[in-house]
Parts: sequence; structure tokens; C-alpha cells
Amino acid sequence: MAEVSAELNPELLIVPPIRSKARPASPCGRGAGSFVVVLPSDLDRSRIPNHIACVMDGNGRWAEQRGLPRTDGHTAGEQALFEVLDGADELGVDWFTVYAFSTENWRRPVDEVQFLLRFNEEILLGRQKELHERNIRIRFIGRRDRRVPRRLVRRMDDAAALTRGNTGLTFTIAFNYGGRAELVDAVQRIVDGGTKRVTERTIARHLYDPEMPDPDLVIRTSGEYRISNFLLWELAYSELVFSDALWPDFRREHLYAAIKEFQDRDRRYGGVAGPDEPDG
Ligand code: FPP
Repeated sequence: MAEVSAELNPELLIVPPIRSKARPASPCGRGAGSFVVVLPSDLDRSRIPNHIACVMDGNGRWAEQRGLPRTDGHTAGEQALFEVLDGADELGVDWFTVYAFSTENWRRPVDEVQFLLRFNEEILLGRQKELHERNIRIRFIGRRDRRVPRRLVRRMDDAAALTRGNTGLTFTIAFNYGGRAELVDAVQRIVDGGTKRVTERTIARHLYDPEMPDPDLVIRTSGEYRISNFLLWELAYSELVFSDALWPDFRREHLYAAIKEFQDRDRRYGGVAGPDEPDG
């Protein structure tokens, strides 16, 4: 496991974006008609990960370092999130998943939990239209238990319904998500369905989003080297890249550095010569 910084090959390539569909203003606020992407020249455009998942860590520390309330770090994290989503979309990444609120986050002070619930709702309300216009499909994974306010559940359902038919990048928001909870819920549904013989396929089919491919690349920021109950089943063969940047400071350059690190890895899936498929 390596740690990446955003030190990249200074030579830059200006290339047409892989997803070249003309689009209106992007979520990170860049103007309409951005038809070029500036990439480090050592990034191989034919080996862009299909699914990138992010643990957006370090918002609280970012704020504390500035003498601000922790919640200001989450607010600053929104800009990073949509810049990175934008960068991933331009590169042709098909699936982009973020850990927005974990099953453990309920243990935070009540004020911060309340803030995060409202914050997630505001982001959905404020961003869904532009994401929809960009052909992005929004999906959610996580537990819909009684702690999640009904209004937020409705917003999640509305955003998913609005964007259901989109054919571009799938943006999955892990909300009230825990990897163990996902497995428990999957096993419970398998038992409820009366299945006698359980295979890996059975479990995969009962996860929150059976269509979601396993992440190729998982990025965690803030210099923490943990998985923290994120996508425990799905990341069996993912490449893990850790960045020292705190999430609100994470930018496209850091994304490119993480993808470069991914491209430099030798994925063997338990075999010896880099097969295309996991060997189980
Ligand atoms: C971790 O930082 C970050 C979070 C718990 C929340 C991040 C959420 C967003 C940026 C919004 C996502 C919303 C949508 C709708 C996609 P931390 O508080 O654990 O930081 P620390 O480790 O420095 O304390």
C-alpha cells in the first residue's frame, strides 16, 4: 500500500475528454464548453479505473487546523467532492462511490450528526439538477433505518428516480452505510428467501446494489491507513491508495496521482500473471 502526493510529471497533455458529450456548467463550477482536459502525460488513458471509491477523510482536522468548527470542514469538503467527481467523469470513469455517512457516524456529537444529515440533504437538493443534466446517475447504498429522517429518504429516492435513466457515470452515495451491516442484511435476505446453497454469487446478488461492480481503486485521504467498514465485500481485489491530503484539499491533481499509482500496480487477483478476472 502506498501513499501518494500530488507531485506529478510536470509535462501536461491537453486532450479531448473521453466522455466528450457537450455539457452545461459542471458541478465544480467551471464554465460551459469545457472540451479539453489537462492530464499528466504519464497517465495511460486506456487504463482508467472503471470504478473509483473514496473515503473522504480529514474534514474535521482541516477545520480544526484553521480554528474553525468541524462542520466547516464538511462544507469545504463539498467543493473537493464535486471537483473530483468532475475529474473522474471527464476521464471516463463509469462508477464513482463516496462514503458520505457511515453506520458509525451516529456516534458523533448530536450537533455534528444533525449538521451532516442536513448537509447531505442540501447537497442532494442543490446538485441533483446539474448532475442530471450531465447524464450522471445517482444511487445510494446503506441502511434505511429509523434514524434516517424520512425527508432525507424522500430526497434520496427523488434524486435516484430523477437520474435513473441516465447513461453516464454512476455516482453512488454510501449513506448510513457499513460494510458489516451490508453483509448482515444480505445474509438475512438470503435466509428469508429460504436459499439452501450459498455461493459468492448469492451474496453478491444480495448486496445493496448488485449491479455495482467492485471498485478497482479505493482512495482514502488524510493519511489514515484504514478501511473503516467501507465496502468490505466489494474491495476484496481493489487497489488501495492513501493520500496525506485532507479531503477539503483534495483536487484533480491528487486524483490523477492516485490513478497513476493504480496504473503502476500489478493486479494479480491471487494468480501470477495478471489475469483479467479474479480467480476467486
Ligand atoms: C470525514 O471527515 C467526512 C465525513 C464524515 C463526511 C463527508 C461528507 C461530505 C463531504 C458530503 C457528502 C454528501 C453527499 C450528498 C455526497 P472527518 O469528520 O472524519 O474528519 P476527521 O477525521 O479529520 O475528524
